[in-house]
Amino acid sequence: MEAIAKAPPTALPGRPPSPLYLPALPTLWPHMLAERAATALPFPFAAESVSYHYFARNAVWAAVRIFALAHREVLVPAYHHGVEIEALVDAGAVPRFYPVGPTLRLDPREVLDRLGPATGAVYVIHYLGFPQPLDELLEACRARGIPLIEDCALSLLSSDGERPLGSRGDASIFCLYKTLPVPNGGALVLNGAAPRGLPRPTQPSWSAMASHLAGALLRNLRLRGGTAGALAADTLRTMGRTLAWGLGGERVPTGTQHFERKNVALGMSPISSRIVGAQSFSRIVEARRRNFFFLLGRLRDLVSPATAELPPGVCPLFFPIEVQDKERVRRRLALRGIEAVDFWRQGHPAVRSGEFPEVDRLRAQLLELPIHQDLGPAAMQYLAATVREAVHG
Ligand SMILES: Cc1ncc(COP(=O)(O)O)c(C=O)c1O
Repeated sequence: MEAIAKAPPTALPGRPPSPLYLPALPTLWPHMLAERAATALPFPFAAESVSYHYFARNAVWAAVRIFALAHREVLVPAYHHGVEIEALVDAGAVPRFYPVGPTLRLDPREVLDRLGPATGAVYVIHYLGFPQPLDELLEACRARGIPLIEDCALSLLSSDGERPLGSRGDASIFCLYKTLPVPNGGALVLNGAAPRGLPRPTQPSWSAMASHLAGALLRNLRLRGGTAGALAADTLRTMGRTLAWGLGGERVPTGTQHFERKNVALGMSPISSRIVGAQSFSRIVEARRRNFFFLLGRLRDLVSPATAELPPGVCPLFFPIEVQDKERVRRRLALRGIEAVDFWRQGHPAVRSGEFPEVDRLRAQLLELPIHQDLGPAAMQYLAATVREAVHG
């Protein structure tokens, strides 16, 4: 399989392994554990005030505390993952929802219409690396003296032209493990506010980390190794589980649906910082944009109107398509080794079905295809052909 970011010598550019495995998220290459940071880190790692957490949801929770938003209304988009809303609610904020249109863009007027004396903050999600219009919202928030929080969980390394997403709001939240092959990691950037009220971070257990790392390395083996790699990965997985079980320690899974208070102070593991330091960031952005453009050419009829263009600076997280029966398509792709992601079939229960029909439609139809830095031209060709077959076949 091709590898883009600092490919180790074992990667074979242009040669698809057989059977193909296209994981949803980037995998961990062994050399990333050994290398040290060679270049300066970009935003948000280079931000003046940045704290690291096990999950992005912990950063959301911390932001509520820092801005004293308990018992105050926070305007949030009706199209959301659900766990960010759970974190807001757990920390005491009261979410009030605003609509999101079919292009995944918020309409500033819809947010401004809901601003009132009870509003304590405006929360904006930049979906899949695509920037939301912020000018009017920032102006209104500044005029009222309330914070604007940018949720960049899906937008690490993405920019609006030259301006990094997450650099304009009073606080911004990032999930690292969706874009980079780290076992865990979320970041909270504060653009002005003091990090008062942050819980003192605790370290994840070593054994839990070892088991996460083993999983990430195994996915890399599978990605590179075809059938032999898959078999080796299965054997090593069993060995890794036995080892983790023997060492004890709780394994805290990432990518889960729900917020758990018991993990709120869990910090990012040091190995994640090391892996971050080994990344070639400009090549990651370049590879994702190249893969996105490739699919735009091949799947233009399926692409969601949200992302029919790729503006300068955007680092796309996935390639979203709109399909009528997304579970059927997702399963068909899985049978052919492609991990597609159900983009939020369900949100937080505080939003009733029918309340925001556009959001219901997005939840029913949007499916995300992988376009990350481990996937090269051969993988993309296979992906485009297989998606066509899965949708129409
Ligand atoms: C928009 C958004 N915000 C926050 C989060 C929370 O991220 P994490 O899983 O790192 O807690 C997610 C997770 O998918 C998300 O999609």
